[in-house]
Amino acid sequence: MLHRWVEACYIQIGKSQINTFKYIISGGIIMKVKIIGVSGSPRKGNTNILVKECLKAAETLKDVETEFIHLADFKIEGGCKACLRCYAEPNSEKFCWAYDDEMKLVLKQLMEGDGFIFGSPVYWGSWTAQFKTFVDRTHPFVGLGKLLRNKPAGAVTVALGSIAGQEHVISEIIRFIMFHDMIPIGVDVIWPMEGMASPWGVTGRQGFPDNMGSLTPGNLKAVNQDKAAMACAKVLGIRVAEMAKVVKAGFTLVNPKNEETKWPAGPLTAEFQAEDHHTVAYVKKNIRDKEANA
Ligand SMILES: Cc1cc2nc3c(=O)[nH]c(=O)nc-3n(C[C@H](O)[C@H](O)[C@H](O)COP(=O)(O)O)c2cc1C
Repeated sequence: MLHRWVEACYIQIGKSQINTFKYIISGGIIMKVKIIGVSGSPRKGNTNILVKECLKAAETLKDVETEFIHLADFKIEGGCKACLRCYAEPNSEKFCWAYDDEMKLVLKQLMEGDGFIFGSPVYWGSWTAQFKTFVDRTHPFVGLGKLLRNKPAGAVTVALGSIAGQEHVISEIIRFIMFHDMIPIGVDVIWPMEGMASPWGVTGRQGFPDNMGSLTPGNLKAVNQDKAAMACAKVLGIRVAEMAKVVKAGFTLVNPKNEETKWPAGPLTAEFQAEDHHTVAYVKKNIRDKEANA
């Protein structure tokens, strides 16, 4: 009905007005989004610089606010003890039943995000132990119904060498992103670039073209020299922010009442997951039901 009225207006008043009408009707007059950057480096160094560069670029879009989480600032124990109580008894205050530490502050903060930048330096060709601990400890989000679902996210890494694990870490981070049903965002690289560039994420080098070992003065900021990585960080930040806006605006159209429904209208509930995916909660419930009926 409303749609017909809108069409009628279109015929009468033309295209620019109709776009304004559509804009207002969509409820998306101002689409505010929050982009959160997470760094898994133990140092205040190059990873932080790249993640912050993404956030700074994201803020160049209208109505974008950003927050930065340096995991090293939090006392986070780990990894996951696999008790799976976060599946059986999902709890959005406590999150984890095995550890009572500051990871719950990080998870609470992440719940406010509409889009994410995740970064870790390369350690032994892989992500850092700190970042892996963080990844393991996001397990409660799954039990709670995949709280990060449909949120766009990008990956950032930095290493000492040129082809020294960056692509591997990016793909690890992207797999983490996809495991949580987030939407991985790539980088629109303009080839060739002077420095380290990859379409899958930001792949920086600690100093480029100079060699800047970790005992070289200034090494903590050396990624600033890697023009390609810095440019890619800007692109990634803007891409994540614009997609966060598009996804959020889209949901106001397809799911204006913000009901928790099944795909494609909104987040999956823990109950849906339990029923349809045979999680631990489902199995435990079945056991309890059987015991009750025995
Ligand atoms: C334990 C450890 C392992 C590392 N492994 C690698 C590696 O496999 N490849 C590499 O190129 N650099 C490696 N590095 C160097 C870091 O990736 C590099 O210094 C990076 O810039 C650190 O980021 P940050 O400044 O955010 O701490 C390693 C450093 C440490 C401390």
